Amino acid sequence: MAARINYSVQNTLCLLNPLNYSVNAKTTHFKTGLHFSKNLIFPRKLKRPTFCTCSISNNDRQSSEAAETFVLTTPLYYVNAPPHMGSAYTTIAADAIARFQRLLGKKVIFITGTDEHGEKIAAAAAAAGSTPSQHCDVISQAYKTLWKDLEISHDKFIRTTDPKHEGIVKEFYSRVLDKGDIYRADYEGLYCVNCEEYKDEKELLDNNCCPMHLKPCIERKEDNYFFALSKYQKQLEENLTQNPNFVQPPFRLNEVQSWIKSGLKDFSISRASVDWGIPVPNDNKQTIYVWFDALLGYISALSAEKEQPDLQTAVSSGWPASLHLIGKDILRFHAVYWPAMLMSAGLDLPKKVFGHGFLTKDGMKMGKSLGNTLEPNELVHNFGSDAVRYFFLREVEFGSDGDYSEERFINIVNAHLANTIGNLLNRTLGLLKKNCQSTLVVNSAVAAEGNALKDAVEKLVEKARIHYENLSLSSACEAVLEIGNAGNAYMDENAPWTRFKQGGAASEAAAKDLVVILEAVRIVAIALSPSGTKWGGLKGGQVMAQPKPVFARIENKTEVEDEAATRKPVKSKEKKPQAQVAAEAAESLISRSSNPTNDEAHLGVHLQEHCRGFPGAMPMATCRLNWLAAASGSHLRGRRWKGYYHRLRVKCYEQQPFTPSLEDVNSL
Ligand code: MSP
Repeated sequence: MAARINYSVQNTLCLLNPLNYSVNAKTTHFKTGLHFSKNLIFPRKLKRPTFCTCSISNNDRQSSEAAETFVLTTPLYYVNAPPHMGSAYTTIAADAIARFQRLLGKKVIFITGTDEHGEKIAAAAAAAGSTPSQHCDVISQAYKTLWKDLEISHDKFIRTTDPKHEGIVKEFYSRVLDKGDIYRADYEGLYCVNCEEYKDEKELLDNNCCPMHLKPCIERKEDNYFFALSKYQKQLEENLTQNPNFVQPPFRLNEVQSWIKSGLKDFSISRASVDWGIPVPNDNKQTIYVWFDALLGYISALSAEKEQPDLQTAVSSGWPASLHLIGKDILRFHAVYWPAMLMSAGLDLPKKVFGHGFLTKDGMKMGKSLGNTLEPNELVHNFGSDAVRYFFLREVEFGSDGDYSEERFINIVNAHLANTIGNLLNRTLGLLKKNCQSTLVVNSAVAAEGNALKDAVEKLVEKARIHYENLSLSSACEAVLEIGNAGNAYMDENAPWTRFKQGGAASEAAAKDLVVILEAVRIVAIALSPSGTKWGGLKGGQVMAQPKPVFARIENKTEVEDEAATRKPVKSKEKKPQAQVAAEAAESLISRSSNPTNDEAHLGVHLQEHCRGFPGAMPMATCRLNWLAAASGSHLRGRRWKGYYHRLRVKCYEQQPFTPSLEDVNSL
């Protein structure tokens, strides 16, 4: 890893993470200034966020309680492999939105979870030498652990293997059956196991390869149960006409409209060849199709912990969802299939579906199937959750794709968090300590009378709030950062350090300026809290904390070493990430080996040696290796290696970060 961080930044400022802030009323630390109440600063009726006001045609039964509740979901993640940065991305964005909604005073139900049935999961478990159920326990736990490390504030975590969920799926299936929307038929087509979907030949690449997973689809012929999607074509069209905000961002609406216009085909909702799933009611030779099962997780998650599984009780606990946050690849399931299923069952539609873009690596979607993933545990371990959360929200325009680069990560964290925000806070506290015994001379409301910085900050706060409501997360971050820039500019223009030296009235004005700047930083810290960002939170007489770095600069080791070695300008050396070094070493071992299968254990040891001392390098290297093996057509080797890697993960699942020892490797 070419970079290191000097100080822990976690939990120091609560940017985009305000509810985690612990407020201790007795201390006189700066943090006490970050207190916020949940009262709104604007009349609730006038300024309801846009995504809470849109209505849908069949939501008459929506209870008034549900109208006050904001139900937000992430997709339920497949447990074929541990989470990667792509999965974490949706959850980080959802978390920021959930926190914002809570600060608006709403009751938020933030749902996430894991999608654990189907062929793909069964195959992953077999490759890992585990039973599906053991495998699901391990990987589902890996998701929970990552959400904890990233400080995700979800209220519900649903697993589709939870018995209460199974009961609700069966009940839903029976309702749709009673409606006359399920029938039995033969189907023949090309199936992508990774998408868990039959594909139209025209959307496939050469060799019938899935464009998303670059793997050939399999010809399948099955006798299945079908859902009469085509029956709902007109109703789906009407819904979109009446609720043009149903699909967001707006450009994705066109995509959905054109799918519907081109004619909807009924789809199969059971599998005869898959055991790992929920049995079809009245026909236990078939299991329910994984999507017809998983989408129901959004409803079953709502039921209380010890409640009897019952569709109606779950629905009355918060349905319909206010917002489904998903990646663009699963838009069809959420904006076409799911609404039609709900219509069939006589349930309300979700209010909004937002399809974000992909995190890419070298232009390719980062994913478990391609193996080109970024390890979130490693990023959090090295840079802290604040930096990781901030970077992805700020850097990727929410809705569009964004490519990850470590260089960009370091630059953004350094420039925005360390330089702009961290430095502003620190130099202000430094001056306060030197000249005012770390004590605020007056309330910030008084200090700011007629002050231009206050006006600028208030305008920027309003700007951030509007962006947040519109789910323009990057622009919201930008507006917050502008507050930091305005504070720095104010400091430079007014040069309080000079005025302190002048004494008398100049010194008094300088002391007030420090209060004004600290108030601006307080607001940045609370970021987008609509109550906490009201000017006037700092009280005169309050003793502030001693200055210390809050967001440390990330030093680039290569640069530091180069600079120390010679003062002459040198060309920056290309330093490969450790995971890549390890993977390349392992690759070369494979290519030299006459019997790669026998050498697998050897390979693991070799890889482990290269990764020693670099937490997280091992999983990255193994993923990369697996990807390379698959890409070079070496399926057997790739598959075996994947199994090996899985067994290692299963064995070491409690390790955080994942750093298997040589003994772990040897014991497999
Ligand atoms: N299990 C289904 C969802 C069922 S919801 C009832 C599924 N799971 S997934 O694990 O494959 O993907 C979950 C989410 O992660 C999707 O929204 C997907 O778009 C997102 N991402 C996976 N890779 C991603 C990136 N590289 N970048 C951004 N998001 C990505 O689909």
